[in-house]
Amino acid sequence: NHNHNHNHHFRHADSTASLPSSAVAKISHLKAVVLGDAPASEEDDVVLPSHEFSRQALVPSQQKYLEMYKASIENPAGFWSGIASSEFYWKQGWGDQVYSENLDVRRGNIKIEWFKGGITNVCYNCLDRNIDAGLADKIALYWESNEPGFDATLTYSQLLQRVCQLANYLKSVGVRKGDAVVVYLPMLMELPITMLACTRIGAVHSVVFAGFSSESLAQRIVDCKPKVVITCNAVKRGPKTIFLKDIVDAALIDSANKGISVDVCLTYENQLALKREKTKWKEGRDIWWEDVVPKYPTSCDVEWVDAEDPLFLLYTSGSTGKPKGVLHTTGGYMVYTATTFKYAFDYKDSDVYWCTADCGWITGHSYVTYGPMLNGATILLYEGAPNYPDPGRCWDIVDKYKVTIFYTAPTLYVTRYSRKSLRVLGSVGEPINPSAWRWFFNVVGGSRCPISDTWWQTETGGFMITPLPGAWPQKPGSATFPFFGVQPVIVDEKGVELDGECSGYLCVKSSWPGAFRTLYGDHERYETTYFKPFPGYYFTGDGCSRDKDGYHWLTGRVDDVINVSGHRIGTAEVESALVSHPQCAEAAVVGVEHQVKGQGIYAFVTPVEGISYSEELRKSLILTVRTQIGAFAAPDKIHWAPALPKTRSGKIMRRILRKIAARQLDELGDTSTLADPGVVDQLIKLADT
Ligand code: WTA
Repeated sequence: NHNHNHNHHFRHADSTASLPSSAVAKISHLKAVVLGDAPASEEDDVVLPSHEFSRQALVPSQQKYLEMYKASIENPAGFWSGIASSEFYWKQGWGDQVYSENLDVRRGNIKIEWFKGGITNVCYNCLDRNIDAGLADKIALYWESNEPGFDATLTYSQLLQRVCQLANYLKSVGVRKGDAVVVYLPMLMELPITMLACTRIGAVHSVVFAGFSSESLAQRIVDCKPKVVITCNAVKRGPKTIFLKDIVDAALIDSANKGISVDVCLTYENQLALKREKTKWKEGRDIWWEDVVPKYPTSCDVEWVDAEDPLFLLYTSGSTGKPKGVLHTTGGYMVYTATTFKYAFDYKDSDVYWCTADCGWITGHSYVTYGPMLNGATILLYEGAPNYPDPGRCWDIVDKYKVTIFYTAPTLYVTRYSRKSLRVLGSVGEPINPSAWRWFFNVVGGSRCPISDTWWQTETGGFMITPLPGAWPQKPGSATFPFFGVQPVIVDEKGVELDGECSGYLCVKSSWPGAFRTLYGDHERYETTYFKPFPGYYFTGDGCSRDKDGYHWLTGRVDDVINVSGHRIGTAEVESALVSHPQCAEAAVVGVEHQVKGQGIYAFVTPVEGISYSEELRKSLILTVRTQIGAFAAPDKIHWAPALPKTRSGKIMRRILRKIAARQLDELGDTSTLADPGVVDQLIKLADT
């Protein structure tokens, strides 16, 4: 057995490298503005938390953070088991080993386990436990429709009843512990209800973002073979109606052709978008949610599961191949999302919390549903588009519900002026540049609200590098310091850890409770992708630099993954969609800076012999990507390429393509190693056609 239990013999290693112990002294020379005093200007290096904010904060000072961080690194077992046992309900405690891990491929299989042997249930901890603690009548969910004027609320006890009815229904159609349920729903209350109902009975949900095409949905269905698919007939997004059920129908035909048939398609009638009479229907398979679910009892026994039993699967894009089913398990994920939520947003019982992410992505799993709900928070769900019917919609919503914590992606379309109710702001999904940071801080937060720029990933389950708003002076654009228990390291291309001021590949040393445990059905790919590049570490795929004060600055992906409006897309997926087009011979896709979306998709396309470029072909290529992946993955630019720049061994030189896409033509670098250097000039000539 190659697994190492670090509980008893913690190696001190050089965890001090990421321990920002001397930052206090170092930043004192920087020009600073105090929260609430004045707007942050270009000249200010840091924004200090105000005494007022710090005084009420869970972690009120750098010193307190450092104490807690040190404890979490020196004794992870003690730190996390303290939190796990005092703040959650366990039917039965874990064994004497709090965690065991092997993150080093040289020592055998990668394995991470936390609280193994502990018996619990995440839904119970989200609902029953909070209700027992007196939150029965507290609002759990506010729901705001796409159409202004339509809304709904559920208290914790009402939510529990809804969850139990669905859980009972799912059991009645044969869903058991360990079975997969695919969920293709927009941001209706039924989405978190479905997640919690699955969790209650030990079923493994796999939520597919309702912007994915039927082909992408089918691919996921074929991979995880669900007993049931849950969807709704249609949804309105902005002025448009999207017929989700039609997409599911097509996906179910597609997956049946590939040998996976699904017996039950539970469909919610979303009356604000489409009446049931107008919905296409397959008798026997399709069932209206409203016809069956409300008939079931409003209480449902919990399925007690092991901490290491799977909680959910979420497919995400990698740099190569088909989407990966990221698997999170129960105990560690529960403890980690709840704890990160609480500290990074300095959560208070009186907060009204709004995260604009969709539950189809990890942010919606960890910080719309689980993290906040485990804390008994009041959560706002917004169904619609952020700029519908006008660009002020988000702020109208903030005012209407007196939102105090607002968590969003930097690219969200936001304008207008600051909102009084806000207390803490959060940012996620991409590097936020210093001027965008200042804008968010000054304009949205009225220079009053700290910003938690949270760096993390689908794979990490929860926040990894993030400010704690009362503790740290913030530098605009920096995600600052690691969360408790997280040891980020920056390595060079040989995997050597760099010290002090440095820049390189971001890795993580040792496990943390929220880490994913495997890629569903493909543990080998898990090891190859994440643990082989830099043996001994988890490799994030991101670049990062650390400044002389110890602050972390994320610089974006170093692999072929791009982030478009907070949606993670593998360039390889877009390329394979493009080359499936009969008139496309070859394609290479790169990310390019985009004003609104953060990154845009830029595709170089070589048509097959004898086919010439045309507007019609351009449109049809884009349509191919929309139908194979989803509208959000459609290329922003097709750049016609008579040929692609390749090395003599045939490898496409993306570095050059990225420079051409960014029009940084004087930074092309050495092109002499190309098989045919003339290709570059051809591409430059065709740049704006
Ligand atoms: C990027 C989203 C800079 C990063 C939670 C990461 C960020 C990828 C930040 C994961 C941030 C996320 N600053 N970059 N605060 N947060 N990223 O899996 O490149 O959809 O690897 O998870 O988003 O995207 P994912």
